[in-house]
Amino acid sequence: MNAPNFSFIPNLRMVKPTHLLTRRPRRNRKSPIIREMLAENRVHTTDLIFPLFVMEGQQQKVAIKSMPGIYRLSLDYLLEEIAECVELGIQTFAPFPALPESLKDKYALESYREDSLYLHTIRTIKAQFADVCLVTDVAMDPYTTAGHDGIVEEGKILNDETLEVLGKMALAQAEAGADIVAPSDMMDGRVGHLRRELDDAGFTDISIMAYTAKYASAFYGPFREALESAPKFGDKKTYQMNPANGREALLEGQLDFEEGADFLMVKPALPYLDVIQALKTHFPIPIAAYNVSGEYAMIKAAAQNGWLDGEKAMQEALLSIKRAGADVILTYFAKEFAQKEKQGL
Ligand code: PBG
Repeated sequence: MNAPNFSFIPNLRMVKPTHLLTRRPRRNRKSPIIREMLAENRVHTTDLIFPLFVMEGQQQKVAIKSMPGIYRLSLDYLLEEIAECVELGIQTFAPFPALPESLKDKYALESYREDSLYLHTIRTIKAQFADVCLVTDVAMDPYTTAGHDGIVEEGKILNDETLEVLGKMALAQAEAGADIVAPSDMMDGRVGHLRRELDDAGFTDISIMAYTAKYASAFYGPFREALESAPKFGDKKTYQMNPANGREALLEGQLDFEEGADFLMVKPALPYLDVIQALKTHFPIPIAAYNVSGEYAMIKAAAQNGWLDGEKAMQEALLSIKRAGADVILTYFAKEFAQKEKQGL
């Protein structure tokens, strides 16, 4: 073999290793076949949960400006969307309701009214798609005039009083056909309360996906636009976690674990990969991560500007969330990812 010729680079001589390079990690990267065979992590469509936004009316499809490709859909269109997604291999969906202001109040009464849009949506999806798995949202914010996740009294978000509402909501969702209820509010004690309420009513099979480490994050902006659910006053810092804290997530994890959660979730995902990893290490139950609206918006905005390759950035972002330890990922990329997987990416 000819000695490499470095003459085109002035003053560069080949580095002669002082020892034999017995470890050359590059050998395991030398061809696409080897790289693929040795991939430590993979993302599959079956790992993904697709969040959906349902609104009242018929033939309604309202684009969410900051989330290109994502819409608020009336139920008829939502069913068509689910049919398409099922065809692509998506099996699990997380619907959220967008309510008109006229249905909002202080106590989120609409959240457990038998004929409400959301409960009707759950029943209809389960009736039409027997095999679909539904993760339903248990939180007051889409239903309250204040836009907070709890009952507000004199500017304070009440904890224990809110649990009562969450219990009624979870029961109503279980009755409507939810497979997994997901409390997304960060009130203390909600997992234990929901577990007891569900069990007492005979719903011992309904799982709880706890939003365990949900941070008070700027990355929820587009979601709040989608649901018009931004808080009318203040912020959510007295219940959602401080982004500065990692150890505190272990306390939340321990409480949710002891109270009977079936999944622990971290949210958002990308700025909190360390938290995903910590929960994965400490708790022997599945870990979910919510790749939230702002994380989706960032990649889409940059891609639309031609500043990065949107598809590759999506793949890499989802992969990093799995690598950190997530077993399942809630993501607005689910449909796009499934399309790419189907085309054989
Ligand atoms: C609130 C809730 C939020 C999201 C889901 N449920 C955000 C909030 O605290 O306002 C955010 C999801 C996203 O940004 O994609 N119960």
